[in-house]
Amino acid sequence: MYSDNSQRKLTKPVTLSTLKKMKAEKEKITCLTSYDASFTNVMNVAGVETILVGDSLGMVIQGQDSTLPVTIEDMCYHTAAVKRGNTNAFILTDMSFMSYSKPEQALDNAAKLMQAGANMVKLEGGSWLADTVKLLSQRGIPVCAHLGLTPQSVHKFGGYKVQGKSQDAADLLLQESLDLVAAGADILLYECIPTELGKTLTEAVPVPTIGIGAGHHTDGQVLVMHDMLGINLGHTPKFVKNFLTDGRNVTEAFEAYVKEVKDMTFPGAEHGFKS
Ligand code: KIV
Repeated sequence: MYSDNSQRKLTKPVTLSTLKKMKAEKEKITCLTSYDASFTNVMNVAGVETILVGDSLGMVIQGQDSTLPVTIEDMCYHTAAVKRGNTNAFILTDMSFMSYSKPEQALDNAAKLMQAGANMVKLEGGSWLADTVKLLSQRGIPVCAHLGLTPQSVHKFGGYKVQGKSQDAADLLLQESLDLVAAGADILLYECIPTELGKTLTEAVPVPTIGIGAGHHTDGQVLVMHDMLGINLGHTPKFVKNFLTDGRNVTEAFEAYVKEVKDMTFPGAEHGFKS
């Protein structure tokens, strides 16, 4: 691991206030998934502001065929590992499937993640989560709400499909976003929605938005680390770009991702979806 702090691009801790300021100043927010200390350390060197301990670890670490088998204990274990490798990035951790189906249960499980080292928890869902978001927020736990394609509902969706394509579906996403912000959500993450809808939603909400397959207008971007390093066990989604090319090492691949998100060359039109 890198032990020399001078190599790290993030010179002070990234906080929720930093991310809000970045939205206000129109500086793009970078985020990648990480599940361990070593990759987190390299992301610090490359200047990735936000680390997502995603339940995608079910697939890329555990070899499951969805995120559903992942437990809250798995999420605590990987959050603690990321925390040990981290210096200044903001750590966002997924709440696992069914760990937040009731508000009080969500509070207990979110507390475990925060004690393991998370700076914020992420939950998948729409307006039905408002009471939960309100409870966590009132208890001092920052919340990111994940909307659009929510992988924990893959069986309800009948596959990993682009969401918000019809006008009614887009209107519903807007309403759900506003409800979640009113309840206290601090960040909204949109997955697999049309590029133009990503723009509408980002302009409509006062909190930072982070997108994956949501076009280049969102305030920030996230990718699953394995995808952007070209380590893929199956189908490569349209919104993914492999940055481990052109003779780069892993640090340089992360640096290229940061640069391309900041200067808005990633995602390109070819990575986005239409209504
Ligand atoms: O689990 C994860 O990695 C995620 C991203 C796909 C946003 O939620």
